[in-house]
Amino acid sequence: MDRLIVADHTEVIVGEGWPRPLLPPREDRRQVALLTQPEPTSRAIELAGLLREDGLRTEVIGLPDRDEAKTLEVAATVYQALAGSRLTAQDTIIGFGGGAVTDLAGFVAGTWMRGVEAVHFPTTFLAAIDAAIGGKTGVNIGGKNLVGLFWHPTRVVIDLNVLETLPPELVREGMAEAYKAGLVGDPALAALLSDDPEPDTREVVLRALLVKKRLVDLDPRDRGERAFLNFGHTIGHALEYASTLSHGESVALGMVAAARVSEMVAGFPDRRTVTSTIERLGLPTTVPGVDGARVRDLVGRDKKRDHSGTRMVLLKEIGDPFLTHVGPDEVEAGLSAIGL
Ligand code: GLY
Repeated sequence: MDRLIVADHTEVIVGEGWPRPLLPPREDRRQVALLTQPEPTSRAIELAGLLREDGLRTEVIGLPDRDEAKTLEVAATVYQALAGSRLTAQDTIIGFGGGAVTDLAGFVAGTWMRGVEAVHFPTTFLAAIDAAIGGKTGVNIGGKNLVGLFWHPTRVVIDLNVLETLPPELVREGMAEAYKAGLVGDPALAALLSDDPEPDTREVVLRALLVKKRLVDLDPRDRGERAFLNFGHTIGHALEYASTLSHGESVALGMVAAARVSEMVAGFPDRRTVTSTIERLGLPTTVPGVDGARVRDLVGRDKKRDHSGTRMVLLKEIGDPFLTHVGPDEVEAGLSAIGL
């Protein structure tokens, strides 16, 4: 198994299957709450069984699907369940699922009893290389993740066997985030995803994790370099709001747009490579059928949140990102590159 430490706090374990012990060794833990999908999968039930065999009282709490899990109402029902089972400050909350589950589990862990241990078992590519790592947690209140806190898990367990058997749409979503990691921090990863039709899952995961680790270690509270991880997200988030596109598809489109803006602002020479790689990964590069006015409005609202203009991460070259403010002409060029 491969191990790396993120933000001096999180042990990320990557391997086939689960490590033993399952949780970081601690004498005083008696109980865990395992937060997972509405219908716990056989793997979640198996995990709960192993935790019980290890002597831990284990309550399995099903959450609504996807972003419906990320509300204060859902958090409140989980708090009630934790109160009912008397989960103490010495106990542990486990997030077993995709990014919405790990975001909500982290949020509840960071706020229950003013903060208890969180451990994540991500079951999607996207959660494994991005959402579960780096301590960002949150719920959606009229906007994505507007309420949240940084709460680093003590351990994240990435089971490559699970990632190998995901449905193709979840693999594509993960590949979008992996390609983003390559573009902002690892040209070899970007080239691997451009050139190799069947890249090795372990290599993609480890390389993407190393990019994330480097930026989170440099800037754990997202005040500077960590923003590079948002490449493709300014327009991507607006698209995600205005459409039924998934997060990965929206980020893929946002990266096509950001590559065009990078070309315009910084002479980025590889716009065509970015677009053709995203296409080859099975992700969209244009958005017929999305309400362009709504996307413009959402990008514009983003602008109001920063007095200097729309903040975007751009590329000088693959692996050389920078953060800047752009004007309406640049935003328009980005939107027109994706057919809006
Ligand atoms: N998902 C971007 C970050 O963790 O900063």
